[in-house]
Order: sequence, then C-alpha cells, then structure tokens
Amino acid sequence: MKDLLGIKDLDGVLLKEILDEAKKMRAVMDSKKRTQDCKHKNVVNVFYENSTRTAMSFEIAGKTLGATVTNMSVSTSSVTKGENMFDTVKTLESIGYDTIVVRHGMAGVPYFIAKSVSCSVINAGDGRNEHPTQALLDMRTMLDHFKTLKGLKVAIIGDIAHSRVAMSNLYGLTKLGADVYISAPNTLLPHSIEKFPVKVTTPQEAVKGANIVMTLRLQLERMASGLISSTGQYAKVYGLCKELILQADKNAIIMHPGPVNRGIEMTSEILDGHNSVVNEQVTNGVAVRMAVLKMCKNNA
Ligand code: CP
Repeated sequence: MKDLLGIKDLDGVLLKEILDEAKKMRAVMDSKKRTQDCKHKNVVNVFYENSTRTAMSFEIAGKTLGATVTNMSVSTSSVTKGENMFDTVKTLESIGYDTIVVRHGMAGVPYFIAKSVSCSVINAGDGRNEHPTQALLDMRTMLDHFKTLKGLKVAIIGDIAHSRVAMSNLYGLTKLGADVYISAPNTLLPHSIEKFPVKVTTPQEAVKGANIVMTLRLQLERMASGLISSTGQYAKVYGLCKELILQADKNAIIMHPGPVNRGIEMTSEILDGHNSVVNEQVTNGVAVRMAVLKMCKNNA
C-alpha cells in the first residue's frame, strides 16, 4: 500500500496483514533489536494538533526501523507565515521526505495531501473522521487477548460523535466480525451510526457479558456547549465504575485510547486495575506504527 488514510478503505485481508505484521514488529520491539527495514526512508511527523502517544510512537517506530525521522514543529514553521497546506507538503516532498505522517483538526486533510504529493501519507487523526493507527493498535491488543474478534462482544461507551477513534474502530471491528454495542448520550451519537451494523443501547446492556469494554474520552475541546448537562452527571451514567464492570465477562479487558479524563470516563480503580490494558495499547501503538511505516511504499 502507498498510504494509510483510513480503515474504511482497507479490505479485511489487508487489515489482517497489517495486524499480523504488527505482531512481528512487537517481537522486534521486545527483543530490543533495531532493523534496517526503513533505512532509506525519510519520515516527517506533521502534527497540527497536539499528541503524546501517536507522535512519540511514530518517532520511535521509524527510528527502530532505521528511518530518518523529523518532527516538524508546526507552530515554528512557515505555516505561521501563511504558507498553505499544498505548498507546505510540496516543500516537504522537495526536501526529500517520502513519508508524511499527519494529524489535523480538519477531516479529509490526509486525503488532500495524498493527492498532492507522491509521498506515502499516513493519517494520524483527521478531525472527527478517522484515526486508523489507533484502531489498529486497539485491534492488535484485543487479538493479544482473544484468538479472534469474530463473535466477541465489544462495548464502546462515550463520546462517539466527536471520536475519530470510534469511527476507525467501527469500520475495523465490524470488518473482523465483532458484535459491537454502542452506548452514548443521544447528543454524542453521530447520525452516521445508522450505517454500521451495531446495537445502540444503555451502558448496562452494552457491558453485560462483554469481552471488551472500551470507553472514549469526552472531547470537550471539539464539543459545542450544552451537549451534556455536566461532566459529573455524564460520569454517573456513562463512566466505568466497579458496579458497571461487574456486569461484563469475568475475563473482560478494559480499553481507552487515551488520554483519559480520570474519574469521568472511568474511575482510577478501573483504569489502574488488573483488567485494564490501556498501557498495553500504548506499547502496541509502536508495533502497529512500525508495521504501517514498513508496509507503506511510494515506489519513488
Ligand atoms: N490516542 C491518541 O491519539 O493519543 P495522543 O493524542 O496522545 O496521540
């Protein structure tokens, strides 16, 4: 593949290939070895929105594979002088970057860049649209705990409307045959939920017997006022607590893409508890990004 723009665009075979490659990359990571798989690659991270996990893990992933990795600081770049997106990415291509990892607040920006330059383009999150490497690391983590996702009950609870993580996971999990249950306040459910083969229900029904419970961050920075009465009220109904999680399967894993609003999406007791795989998700983020960097080829 040349680019990774979204999970929507991937067929199930390629999705599984990336997840398998990520497993191999996790073994490389765990062995503390470095490879030369990307030794001829010049990768640039261009993050117009803040990030800890995604930006750092793309950097370490690229370096582990022998790539040259640059983190472009948008706030000190010529973007602040008014340079437009097209001119910025053409400049990066002319400098010699062959892979652009981009995060932007506007949906569709990675697609625009992929049409504008011959570089490989990897979407590190575009507006509310998709965050494909997050969903891949989520699915990789699930597969580390369960042999297959087919027939597994996955509960996704929280701010679906503003969540690109939710969108990418909905595409991926339904392609891999999981039974997905969604729970969110009506004001935080997108109209597009109707096109997915998922059940929208209460937190209690979503969690009951679930193998996997994923909560999503309340994206207050993207939210118009008035969508929830208060974070405290939201936490009472949709926050994961001991009583709610007791309804899940006893071997259920608890996931969150991070960063977590402790005490809102889940209590600290659940986040730091033995069923939580939140830190495993972060580690698998490096493995997945190694796989994606290795597999994206622009043939230039
Ligand atoms: N999950 C995620 O995308 O986290 P960052 O914003 O820290 O990259």
